[in-house]
Amino acid sequence: MMKVALIGLGSVGRGVAGMIQKKDLGITITGIADSKSGAMDPAGLDIASLLANKGRNGSCGDREISASDVIKKADYDALIEVTPTNALSGEPAIGYIKSALLRKKHVVTSNKGPVALAYKELRALAEKNGVALRYEATVAGAIPIMHTLEHGLLGNEILALYGVLNGTCNYILTRMAAEGLTYEQALMEAREMGYAEADPTYDVMGIDAAIKLVILANSVWGDSKQLSDVDRTGIDLLTPDALRLAADLGCTIRLIAEAIPRKHILRVSPRILEKNHPLVVDGTLNALTLETDMAKEITLIGRGAGSIETASAIIGDLLYINDRYVHRA
Ligand SMILES: NC(=O)c1ccc[n+]([C@@H]2O[C@H](COP(=O)([O-])OP(=O)(O)OC[C@H]3O[C@@H](n4cnc5c(N)ncnc54)[C@H](OP(=O)(O)O)[C@@H]3O)[C@@H](O)[C@H]2O)c1
Repeated sequence: MMKVALIGLGSVGRGVAGMIQKKDLGITITGIADSKSGAMDPAGLDIASLLANKGRNGSCGDREISASDVIKKADYDALIEVTPTNALSGEPAIGYIKSALLRKKHVVTSNKGPVALAYKELRALAEKNGVALRYEATVAGAIPIMHTLEHGLLGNEILALYGVLNGTCNYILTRMAAEGLTYEQALMEAREMGYAEADPTYDVMGIDAAIKLVILANSVWGDSKQLSDVDRTGIDLLTPDALRLAADLGCTIRLIAEAIPRKHILRVSPRILEKNHPLVVDGTLNALTLETDMAKEITLIGRGAGSIETASAIIGDLLYINDRYVHRA
């Protein structure tokens, strides 16, 4: 049985805990923590009762036990780090991840901050300690982009990648084109549907998509790119007229993240695409086209967010680690 410690019990953390409980995955949770409390049991925790506690009083465990205590003291093979993304400092997640790697524990995270800001350092630390650092869920939610790049396209040279990586922007653009809504009206609708945050700056200015592009570029080409290396334009200034003009040409507009190393392009910007272009997906969907030397173009489409959808990516990473490392030890 693979033992895991779960740090963060929000939408993603609860999705992961729920799927571990529901499915027979050979995984047991031996440590858990939210922002205020924690719990540990090397024999496996009673997750149902901890989640019920959290529902009742807002904390899952003992208020004397912190997330750091769980990471440093619990008995586990892999840490699941699913705390909020801080794109400026990456903390406290970077500290949590380092602390687990130093204990020679594998790490799986859905948190973009640490991977975008400290990838080289964390990867080197994982390698030094002989453990894995996996982050499938950081880019395009349920779409297995990292697995595809790492395994499915082995031997291929990745020449370029293009993606619709932000569901909120895609929803806004879809609704502006379909109903002739203004940007503000579509944003309000996205908020009402729960697709946009109260402060949508990260999404609509293209920052979220740019962070994901940095993660992809660094993973695929071993670069040390940063957010400031991305040439970025958001969707906040797009008018219904621009979408109407695109429609007159049989086209529409999507926020496209693109990385083309041979042309030194690392860019997020609204682009006019033919309506039947593979990257023209509707609503909150994400899509990614990979251009490779042997396989040529491959497009993956799927859900970019959601509790269970994101849990799918995390559980894929955990089972990969179990198969590759834990099971064989
Ligand atoms: N939601 C998605 O669909 C999705 C998809 C892909 C990636 N992600 C990423 O996955 C991560 C989690 O997302 P989410 O939607 O689950 O977030 P969330 O609902 O805001 O939950 C965050 C959880 O982290 C806990 N937390 C906050 N600060 C902490 C700290 N200092 N130490 C320990 N725990 C702390 C919170 O504790 P309390 O419960 O005590 O407040 C909460 O349980 C984020 O980095 C997000 O960007 C999310």
